[in-house]
Amino acid sequence: MMMKANGSKTKQCFILVCIICLFFYWYIKGWSSKTDLILVSTFVTKESEQIKCYDYSTLNTLEELTPESKIPINTSIFFVETSCQESGLKLNYRQACAIESAAKMNPHSNVYLIFPSPVLETKYPEEHVEILKGYNNVKMMHISTKTFFDGTPLQSWFREGKHKTSKYPFTHISDILRYVLLWKYGGIYLDLDVIALRSFESMVNFAGVESAEFVSSAIISFSHNHEVANLAVEDLRQTFKGDEWAWNGPGVITRSLKKYCQASKVSDLIEHKCKDFTVYPQSAFSPIHWRQWSKYFTTDEKVRDSVMKEIKNSYVIHVWNYLSKGTNITLGSIQPYGAIAREQCPKVYSTIKMVF
Ligand SMILES: *[C@@H]1O[C@H](CO)[C@@H](O)[C@H](O)[C@H]1NC(C)=O
Ligand SMILES: *[C@@H]1O[C@H](CO)[C@@H](O)[C@H](O)[C@H]1NC(C)=O
Repeated sequence: MMMKANGSKTKQCFILVCIICLFFYWYIKGWSSKTDLILVSTFVTKESEQIKCYDYSTLNTLEELTPESKIPINTSIFFVETSCQESGLKLNYRQACAIESAAKMNPHSNVYLIFPSPVLETKYPEEHVEILKGYNNVKMMHISTKTFFDGTPLQSWFREGKHKTSKYPFTHISDILRYVLLWKYGGIYLDLDVIALRSFESMVNFAGVESAEFVSSAIISFSHNHEVANLAVEDLRQTFKGDEWAWNGPGVITRSLKKYCQASKVSDLIEHKCKDFTVYPQSAFSPIHWRQWSKYFTTDEKVRDSVMKEIKNSYVIHVWNYLSKGTNITLGSIQPYGAIAREQCPKVYSTIKMVF
């Protein structure tokens, strides 16, 4: 009898311990999922709110870029516009000029302007946007970020929302899209703040130096499946930094080329030191250093003349929009940017009223 009583006490004790353990487990579980939430919400930056529009399912009238789209491999030219416009198809004159200059100088290449946000075109588009549609090699398309990364090395990386940790989401999404577009299709990527001065149609696998530390990501060419494209996308996947402006753009191409060419300095990459990949000197794509961006806007004749001389052998000018967007060009002035636009994007230029 004593034994039995003891036995049932042990049993009660055991059940009590079990219940306590269970409560303890629920408590810890609840607590940890709450801290997860706290961690996630501080990890995902406020700035990522700005790119919410990529997930909108509002009406989009642009053609959809899908795996079935017939994008010419190796020869296409890509621009991306990531800034989440929510009222029609809007481009400023400078962006339109970049696109016209590329289409005009490369008439046998398709020039794509890619939007990751839905775009609802209106009945009455701006004149300079309408003019671009008049070039039969200019195509404007929408990509759905939900599916665009499928089948690429960034598929799960993107789904996990790593890009949402960015402090500079428009810039960083533009960085990511350019490398993945070139990874998928080969071809040439151009920033919207360049003007093309020459044709790139016979060129492949190239980039250009923009400073002592960086290769530029404003103009890049990879052939389809090129090793540098793989290195670039892999670099993004492994090292993406949301709080460094240049890390995921010029940083990616600079690190990838150093790796591919086994070089430790940017100057060691230039010209023919990089296997089948050509790295052009600064004069090719960034003839005016970013610190001197205001030279493109000068009204001083001497400075103007020196700029025109410096860009004589360049393929593009890069006007550093990030720094120069607040500075006006007045029609008919001697400002170099205006004079170059008049020549290289004449149709867009003809629609400008007073300043751009
Ligand atoms: C793209 O270029 C690469 C390298 O020149 C070549 O191997 C590949 O066949 C090209 N692809 C197409 C579809 O032309
Ligand atoms: C640039 O031009 C716009 C439009 O004419 C004008 O409103 C603005 O004040 C100008 N900015 C400067 C810095 O001159």
